[in-house]
Amino acid sequence: MSKKRYLVTGALPYSNGRLHVGHIAGAYLPADIYVRFLRACGHDVLFICGSDDNGVAALKTAREENLPVEELTAKYNESQRRAFEGLGIHFDVYGGTHQPRYTSTHEQLSQDFFRKIHDQGLFVKKRTSQLYDEQAGQFLPDRFVKGHCHHCGSANAYGDQCESCGQAIDPLLLVNPISTLTGTRPQPRDTVHWYMQLGRLQGRLQQWLESKRNNWRTGVINFALGQIEVGLPERAMTRDLHWGVSVPLDDPDAAGKVLYVWFDAPIGYVSFTAQLLQDRGGSPVDYAHYWKDPDCRIVHFIGEDNTIFHAITWPAMLLATHDSDSIQGLKGEYQLPHEVVANNFLNIKFSGKEEEKISKSRGTAIWIEDYLQQFDPDPLRYYLTAIAPESARTAYDPDDFYHRNNSELLATLGNFYNRTLTFAARYLDNKVPEASQQQALEDQQLNHCRSAPQQIAAELERCRFKSALALVMELARSGNVYFDARQPWKSRKDNLVDCATTINICLQTCRTLTTLMTPFLPFSAEKCAQMLQLPADYSRWSSANDWLPPGHLLGVAEILYRKLEPPAET
Ligand code: MF3
Ligand code: ZN
Repeated sequence: MSKKRYLVTGALPYSNGRLHVGHIAGAYLPADIYVRFLRACGHDVLFICGSDDNGVAALKTAREENLPVEELTAKYNESQRRAFEGLGIHFDVYGGTHQPRYTSTHEQLSQDFFRKIHDQGLFVKKRTSQLYDEQAGQFLPDRFVKGHCHHCGSANAYGDQCESCGQAIDPLLLVNPISTLTGTRPQPRDTVHWYMQLGRLQGRLQQWLESKRNNWRTGVINFALGQIEVGLPERAMTRDLHWGVSVPLDDPDAAGKVLYVWFDAPIGYVSFTAQLLQDRGGSPVDYAHYWKDPDCRIVHFIGEDNTIFHAITWPAMLLATHDSDSIQGLKGEYQLPHEVVANNFLNIKFSGKEEEKISKSRGTAIWIEDYLQQFDPDPLRYYLTAIAPESARTAYDPDDFYHRNNSELLATLGNFYNRTLTFAARYLDNKVPEASQQQALEDQQLNHCRSAPQQIAAELERCRFKSALALVMELARSGNVYFDARQPWKSRKDNLVDCATTINICLQTCRTLTTLMTPFLPFSAEKCAQMLQLPADYSRWSSANDWLPPGHLLGVAEILYRKLEPPAET
């Protein structure tokens, strides 16, 4: 396999709240699995994330929590960082679009983007009416206004996007608009904004999207091409707010305005890359090696509600941003995303209740910080991958979480390691025995070990994490079936050669499994590598079939998973 360069991103979480299981299942866990896999294959990968600090979301929550918005975003940036770390989701950089260390690079790049698009003549400046809250004395962009959707009629529409149908909203068309600041009905008032003429890029966008038709998930590609079919509108890229990146134009009308948060947020992917590479001692333009080099693949992991921005608006911005000069020998053109991987939402299903949306206000969220106080990270990583909403919404069911931990992780995977290693420790001097009696069953099991890495890689390359994990579990299951078929607890008494062979084959299966589980269950894999006394590069994909030589001394058998009991009903 040839070595490639990748830049993988997880959608920047708004820094106005803690992370719950829905966030993790939506974007960050699949991204982490993908990154771990790419690295295991020897690719050069940067994994970029950070908080989305600007815009209305943070301002609203800052008001509610009675904190300066800088403090609020710093607090949640930190809480998110800890939650990710606790789950083993390690970014190369966790920045923030308004965190002190990143603000100046971010501002500079964002204003650069805006100026270049402006210079290309792709903005029109328009005086329009916008909703204004008399009582609060301010305009109501985006999430400051709620109402009924003018596409689907649902009551869950905000000024930017409808939560039900995912379509973009024109706030003036909202039916029964209500200010989320004061609860009053806002009135239209005149203001000036810069609108990006997305329609002028739609031919190129369409061509590019068509080229992805057979590779991307159908939900993403169909949604994006559907948007193009109805025609891309002009979209305001500025806002009347005092929090964000100010509009970099020498125009009195630009005073007091900032860039739309969905304009500056994706640029965070670039600015965090730039800051990271500078912090590693590089130059301010090193980011070009990832962002402007056709040899690098940019892969965005997002939740379904972000699709329009990553498959349409952001690529349009990238297309519209040309440097006339070249940087470090690379043409000044940004690469379009190689892939946009979107998961659907994760709902929640409490026992005896209907499946429902995860909601902070209704108290139906399972927070990562709370989870980590009680449990190890891998059972959650396992469960969220096993139920991953890759092509449709699925639901987190706390009872099912316990059940799968106990009946799959523990009973299948944990049990296989445990019975194999304790057997070797008790009866075979804790060493890998000789396999001198190989027959059909042994060949079959080893062949399974030999074919699994390639099969699982094929799934992972196509971002089918759920089925990749199922294949890992299938190998563990086959190990148990083989163990049971050979009954080493009997052969130990009357045929030591057979018994040794059996345990050898089981240990080789463990060897293979340890590498293959690494992207999904990194904490468990680490323990398994200890138990098997593997070399430090055990996660290297091509090492999965490096058979353990007879005589190899094993480590101490450890329990991989605890049985988890649902809390007693109160
Ligand atoms: N903050 C957005 C959300 O949580 C995601 C922003 S992704 C980025 O829905 F591309 F804008 F960074
Ligand atoms: Zn709608």
